[in-house]
Amino acid sequence: MRPRIICHMMSSVDGKLHPSRYSKPQGADKRILHAHYDRTAATFAADGWMVGRVTMAEMVKDERPASVLASASAPRVPWINPDRGAMLAIGLDPNGKLHYARPTVGDEHIVAVLGEHVTDAYLAELRDTGVSYVFAGRDGRDLQEGVEALGRELGTRRLLLEGGAAINAAFLKAGLIDELSLLVYPGIDGVAGVQSIIEGPEAARPGYGQSLSFKSVDVLEGGMVWLRYDVTAALHID
Ligand SMILES: NC(=O)c1ccc[n+]([C@@H]2O[C@H](COP(=O)([O-])OP(=O)(O)OC[C@H]3O[C@@H](n4cnc5c(N)ncnc54)[C@H](OP(=O)(O)O)[C@@H]3O)[C@@H](O)[C@H]2O)c1
Repeated sequence: MRPRIICHMMSSVDGKLHPSRYSKPQGADKRILHAHYDRTAATFAADGWMVGRVTMAEMVKDERPASVLASASAPRVPWINPDRGAMLAIGLDPNGKLHYARPTVGDEHIVAVLGEHVTDAYLAELRDTGVSYVFAGRDGRDLQEGVEALGRELGTRRLLLEGGAAINAAFLKAGLIDELSLLVYPGIDGVAGVQSIIEGPEAARPGYGQSLSFKSVDVLEGGMVWLRYDVTAALHID
């Protein structure tokens, strides 16, 4: 069974993705505003968080060209570090671009969700570093298969999807987001062309066929607004 997936994001009032670009809040402490993100995340008691390759690269700071095979490889078997901690830091890295110096980000154990086309040498490197891995189909983009593997191999029941824009859009398109937890920061970006918190190609239309059902709203210290919606398949598409 796949885990429940909650997309937990911070956004400017105009829906933009990059907090460093938001306008300065008036009369509010930025540190308090940013701390709301982790504090509200903790209320979900999730088994860990997932991010796209670009976001994970900002944390591990070692990204190289893809480590993939041109032709079919032997059947791939997931590997789970027996000494892993309970909380997971999951990176969706279909082409094996990320290289890790250690098996953790902060206190969380790293799990790579990969394509079956990654090289044997890349998998050996992950095992040597202690990074666990599962597969999401041949090209690493079968998200349904990837999250089912996370449930099956690691026993995950609930995961936070924490961006960025592209991976959020891919999960939405795949119908794999169960809840949207949105922290609206009292700031504006305002620039055309800057990524929004969920952004995929027009041809994919990630939001098409999805429906939001309001759950709750809370106003947090400093004027941040915490919105929660259930995400379900739309019964009727107009
Ligand atoms: N405001 C917030 O709360 C927040 C939260 C998180 C991140 N961010 C920001 O978001 C930015 C990054 O966002 P982003 O949209 O550029 O990148 P991203 O979503 O972090 O990662 C995108 C990458 O994920 C992989 N990917 C895409 N579709 C996939 C699929 N169907 N299956 C498996 N993997 C798939 C691809 O890797 P390959 O290219 O290797 O194929 C793709 O390039 C960062 O600057 C970060 O700081 C903001």
